[in-house]
Amino acid sequence: MTAHHPAPATPRTPRGASSLEGRCFLSVLDFEPADLEHGLALSAAVKRDRPLGKEAPTSAALQGTYIALLFEKPSLRTRSTFEIAIRELGGNYIDPAADVALGKRESLADVGRSLERWVAGAVVRTYEQSRLRDLALATTSFRVINALSNEEHPCQALADCLTLQERWGDPRGRSVAFVGDGNNVATSLAQAAVMLGIHVRVASPDGFDLAPEVDADVARVARHGAELTRFRDPAAAVRGADAVYTDVWTSMGREAEAAVRRRLFAPYQVNDALMAHAAPDACFLHCLPAHRGEEVTDSVMDSPASVVFDQAENRLHTQKALLVMLFED
Ligand code: CP
Repeated sequence: MTAHHPAPATPRTPRGASSLEGRCFLSVLDFEPADLEHGLALSAAVKRDRPLGKEAPTSAALQGTYIALLFEKPSLRTRSTFEIAIRELGGNYIDPAADVALGKRESLADVGRSLERWVAGAVVRTYEQSRLRDLALATTSFRVINALSNEEHPCQALADCLTLQERWGDPRGRSVAFVGDGNNVATSLAQAAVMLGIHVRVASPDGFDLAPEVDADVARVARHGAELTRFRDPAAAVRGADAVYTDVWTSMGREAEAAVRRRLFAPYQVNDALMAHAAPDACFLHCLPAHRGEEVTDSVMDSPASVVFDQAENRLHTQKALLVMLFED
């Protein structure tokens, strides 16, 4: 097959305020808004060019590059899409067992210093965000990508933004209502969405709010007048919104709280009655996996408004773009 499209724009290295000097993607905040916009444009280009296979302009972007996949928690979408992305960019990955690579055998710093001698970087799903920084800071050139931590899920936010851009075109002035736990997904969504000029409304039960520091971060990176607003009442948050987003009531690692959470979060279920408060053409998002009948009903998940599998698909394209931005020389 012949390439019919021009090569995507020259990759930019994300900058951001991180002391890791742009070599890592631990947070959406490691991107400037211009980096996010560039990443989404590159994502759209690699999505368009995927049918070209080996003729795609990025098919050798990671040639000769090894990347470690280090997952301390279960994953379907993130792991699968990183594996496919690395292969389709011409790279290779290693997949050491999590209990060996991130376990108790040796310090995280020594894991990083060893891995750095063999591979260019790591895609890491772990617990505390500080573990990602510890790993990256112990090394000199190692690139680390956050594939979900307790605090943030920046790769999910890239796919969410691409999905919303596909749905809306220019996203400036639109609004997304996140209903439920003010968790890692909500945090990264808020940080990314405001960079694109999207207003973010978050409705959570008392005790499950977004972390307090998110307001200041969002205010610092917001563009085009986008704002973050917090709510208790889910209907108030959803009223007139262009998109409604939810996630499981009990995130990974919080299983002991599941019964209490089911009771507290019940009024926050995204069902047809709640969606009726949104704009008439509002879409529904979920990072998946979903617990149907808890945070969302089948009727919403399977409705024409639902773009949840577009989000899942876009994990692949956005992560390919991210890998090109971080790893291509
Ligand atoms: N959304 C998401 O991160 O899915 P996985 O947990 O399956 O990777």
